Amino acid sequence: LSQADKELINNSIRDVKDFPKEGIVFKDITTLLNNKVAFQTLMNHLEERYKSYDLDYVAGIDSRGFIFGAALADRLNIGFVPVRKKGKLPSTTVCEKYELEYGFDEVEIHLDAFPIDNARVLLIDDLIATGGTANASAKLIKDVKANLVETCFLINLTFLNGVKRLEEHAPVYTIIDI
Ligand code: PRP
Ligand code: ADE
Repeated sequence: LSQADKELINNSIRDVKDFPKEGIVFKDITTLLNNKVAFQTLMNHLEERYKSYDLDYVAGIDSRGFIFGAALADRLNIGFVPVRKKGKLPSTTVCEKYELEYGFDEVEIHLDAFPIDNARVLLIDDLIATGGTANASAKLIKDVKANLVETCFLINLTFLNGVKRLEEHAPVYTIIDI
């Protein structure tokens, strides 16, 4: 990715102060998604990077990870698998609990999400902060016996050190480091 393209993508992401609560600068990707040049530049880059990885599936994290994950899976001609917040998936699931700033949350995946043995999987989300969500999602992919090849995030909030935690599970690729 050229510096110019990285800036184009970065400039398309909007900072919203004090959302969802005071003191948080929310990285709003809706302004990237409605900018066809920025969105296409990002997807071209992801397609270029991952076309040689011999992936079987892209798994995306609820909910913004679905947007990039499904678009990438389609570009790579492979299947998409959703990792969902608790209580949304209808069939038999595996569940992982993780810690939030206050309290806990849970993510789930269908037990039969990857119908081939040792499936090669890329896990993707828009953003990594503490890494709690991604860490639990990575565990789920391993729980159902798939092969987690890499994890990918458009934005990395480096000051929260989420990547370090996640690197125990798989290589981590990030595009915009803040
Ligand atoms: C955001 C983001 C990641 C997660 C990162 O999702 O899209 O999934 O938080 O935070 P962490 O690294 O500290 O776990 P959110 O839970 O806000 O859900 P949404 O995508 O449905 O808005
Ligand atoms: N998820 C966790 N922290 C976030 C932030 N600052 N912006 C957008 N999504 C987030």
